[in-house]
Amino acid sequence: MNYYVLTLFPEMIENGMNTSIIGRAIAGGYLSLQTVNIRDYSLTGNGRIDDYPYGGGAGMVMQAEPICRAYEDLVQQIGKKPRVVYLTPQGRVFDQHMAEELAREEDLIFLCGHYEGVDERVLEEIVTDHVSIGDYVLTGGELPAMVMMDAISRMVPGVLSNQESGQYESFQDGLLEYPQYSRPEEWRGKQVPPVLLSGHHGNVDRWRRDQSLLRTLKNRPELLAGAELDKKDRKFLQALLDGSSARQDASESGAGCEGSGTAGLGDGTGLTPEEKKFLTKLLAF
Ligand code: ADE
Repeated sequence: MNYYVLTLFPEMIENGMNTSIIGRAIAGGYLSLQTVNIRDYSLTGNGRIDDYPYGGGAGMVMQAEPICRAYEDLVQQIGKKPRVVYLTPQGRVFDQHMAEELAREEDLIFLCGHYEGVDERVLEEIVTDHVSIGDYVLTGGELPAMVMMDAISRMVPGVLSNQESGQYESFQDGLLEYPQYSRPEEWRGKQVPPVLLSGHHGNVDRWRRDQSLLRTLKNRPELLAGAELDKKDRKFLQALLDGSSARQDASESGAGCEGSGTAGLGDGTGLTPEEKKFLTKLLAF
């Protein structure tokens, strides 16, 4: 995968990308990165690439011509016209599916905007994909471009080591990842869940799957609605629903209910009325 980034802050992209796993993949030749400073294409020769917006209003607009010239030079150098991703809060929201799809490209150009925006005419001329990384507004497209390149790179063969790519991940099967623990067995009075010390792989796998289901229910229920659930998954969710109702009955009769949050099963898994309603509906199908 060859990345090309049109930006006003090439050092920001280079510093971010030449670090950690992505830096290792660039050094190893699995990825390449070339930044292009749009300022080098300033029409006035003094590095200025923005101007006032027609129609008035606050802020400046990046001009069409410097960006177009930077792009045309790049296309000539590469010898083809790759997809051009423009980072904007008005774009389609980036997700794992898009990362997987873009990872199949050989070359990708990212265009990072700043100020109040970019002259629409150059966007019409060169951009193939308008992409947002979420419903919030950042000061520029550099961080979003790096977020996208990081997620895409993980899908490029050779970028992750066998150990790294073999790991279970959130979204891989439409659910969030289960919690992880390392030494010591007891930390500040908190124990590692005993099943993880049991050496029973089947039970460990089942526990992890259940934790994934629980986390997804708590944090991203809409993902649970779209995930593939087998018989055992449904059984676990049904038990959660039944157990939560039983605990509520018990606590209403004065038995009490220990724990909070999503720490483990058996306690602390009390469901909110919304979660119960959601599960009841989900399990009805
Ligand atoms: N530029 C500014 N905010 C952005 C966002 N949320 N996504 C992509 N590009 C942006």
